[in-house]
Amino acid sequence: MNRSTAGRNRPERLTGVNPFRVLVVLNRAAELEKQGREIVHMEAGEPDFATAAPIREAAKRALDAGLTKYTQAAGIPELRDCLVRHYRQRHGLELARERILITLGASGGLSILSNLLLRPGAGVLMTDPSYPCYRNLARLAGAEPQLMAVGVEDDFRPAPELLEKHYRDHTESLWLASPGNPTGAVFSRKELRGISDWADAAGVRLLLDETYHGLHYVEDMPSILELNPNAYVVNSFSKYFGMTGWRLGWIVVPEDQVEFANILAQNLFISPSNFVQHAALAAFTPAAREIFEQRRTAFRQRRDFLAAALSDMGMLLPREIQGAFYAYANIAAFSRDSETFCHEMLEQHGVAITPGTDFGEGNGNEYVRMAFTTGMKNLELGVERLRRALNR
Ligand SMILES: Cc1ncc(COP(=O)(O)O)c(C=O)c1O
Repeated sequence: MNRSTAGRNRPERLTGVNPFRVLVVLNRAAELEKQGREIVHMEAGEPDFATAAPIREAAKRALDAGLTKYTQAAGIPELRDCLVRHYRQRHGLELARERILITLGASGGLSILSNLLLRPGAGVLMTDPSYPCYRNLARLAGAEPQLMAVGVEDDFRPAPELLEKHYRDHTESLWLASPGNPTGAVFSRKELRGISDWADAAGVRLLLDETYHGLHYVEDMPSILELNPNAYVVNSFSKYFGMTGWRLGWIVVPEDQVEFANILAQNLFISPSNFVQHAALAAFTPAAREIFEQRRTAFRQRRDFLAAALSDMGMLLPREIQGAFYAYANIAAFSRDSETFCHEMLEQHGVAITPGTDFGEGNGNEYVRMAFTTGMKNLELGVERLRRALNR
């Protein structure tokens, strides 16, 4: 523990705001590799594939053309128009370009949205487990994360009754993700409608994190905007489009929030990277799309293999991992201390996985997250090592 986490110099606003434990795993795995150990990486939440060639080529062209200056805070019109078309083609929606702002990854988008949606003393409903940023951003804003425990038994999806149970007078927003990290859970259209109706009736503003859209293994992957035009959406070029390190994403905000989202974008970031936005235009070409879809097929194959192997070992998984690239497994048959479990798997068996405590404050000790962001050969090796470690 260093001084800042020990609390002595900790800025007050960072109370309860924690580092990502996955980074501890990543750093330790790197150390072990330096010592000559061979580690199977199943911790990182980013695709193992390099960014698709059409995007890389477009970036080079953009740099050579001198596209290195600031852009409009909301991003270049061409890219926002690509997204207008994307919502038209994929979701049958007609969005005004103004409602879409290009951001520095979904992270930059969440930063803007947290400033739009949160204030001191307000309650924000979210599932436990969920992406750790949600509760950290809430605390940073002085708001209260209202954690709703979900588990493998309910496929990690909260029903409106659970929302109602956790609703309090100070509840102002509801933050959900579909597909979810760490769970891969996807809300069906019917479930989204139920949630959306509940939020409207309760006067709660709804934010859907659609960062893993595209990486779904179900037929129907609705955007919340199809069901609720007033919802807030965050999305990213990181995952389906394979551009993690480029730091590009977007948000969609209701009409009456466009002005304020722009003010925030200007003050927080000035603008997203110019040439990176031009590179991202190539993500909407048929050539790039074909590459993304091949990769999606690879992720699906990995998912099938890993889910079957983990279930066979005695770990509990949801009925189906419907999206993203994570298996969030209940390991209660082996341990109720996921941090020690992950530590042992890494130190003794050379498999890097993430403890559930990164994502949940309730039952995170019973879960681990395994990312299938590595090739089949490595996954097979990882599974073999886990089997040996667990005598299965
Ligand atoms: C659910 C979710 N939202 C947002 C992000 C942030 O992604 P980025 O800033 O790379 O777009 C992540 C990253 O892993 C995530 O899992």
